[in-house]
Amino acid sequence: SHTDVQIEVDTYLVDTLVAEDEALVTARESADDTTMPGAAVAPNQGKLLALLAGMIGAHRVLEFGALAGYSTIWLARAVGPQGRVVTLELSEQNAGVARRNVDHAGLGDVVEIMLGPAAESADRIIETGQAPFDLVFIDADKPNNARYLKAALELTRPGSVIVLDNVVRGGRVADPDSTDEDVHGVREALAIAAADPRLDGTALQTVGSKGWDGFAIFRRLS
Ligand code: DHB
Ligand code: MG
Repeated sequence: SHTDVQIEVDTYLVDTLVAEDEALVTARESADDTTMPGAAVAPNQGKLLALLAGMIGAHRVLEFGALAGYSTIWLARAVGPQGRVVTLELSEQNAGVARRNVDHAGLGDVVEIMLGPAAESADRIIETGQAPFDLVFIDADKPNNARYLKAALELTRPGSVIVLDNVVRGGRVADPDSTDEDVHGVREALAIAAADPRLDGTALQTVGSKGWDGFAIFRRLS
């Protein structure tokens, strides 16, 4: 089928360009230990996140949704040993899996996992007044996307990059009358971003091992 070819192409592209080491394979394969098997980014998507972080010389990264820590590892490697990745995770089970995978990857000192509702953890970071994050990856519960985007705007600086995962959802995002709360959350966040003069961005559809979905990528101008 069409999807089989798309997966075949992803396999070819990943085999050709995206070297996963044992720690990444272990993290990806631990998906079954999490609350959402199959939700981690694909290897070529993880690599894209790492490339973006490297392109802007990111030292500090904030992630909404750790799951098994697969994208966390990509991002933590991109910021280097002096960098910091703070990842916000609701589930104690997932946070435990992510901690195990991050430690196994030798990134225990780079990654901080904050357990609890991501919006509350983000508010706590805002209140404590940390240095701004250079890159924010929003990949948690979709109905809260707008809330996470607003928090990201409190936690970044001009030049920071904000990436939103799962903006296509098998094509459902194009339906303005959708009753799907995930679709509503994506559309709400994209509308807010589009209307905010501080943000400049685009979105791309993706196909492959994760089906039909997409990334939105924003650069903070001011
Ligand atoms: C779902 C969530 C994700 O972040 C993802 O990448 C894929 C699927 C989900 O809610 O089903
Ligand atoms: Mg996702």
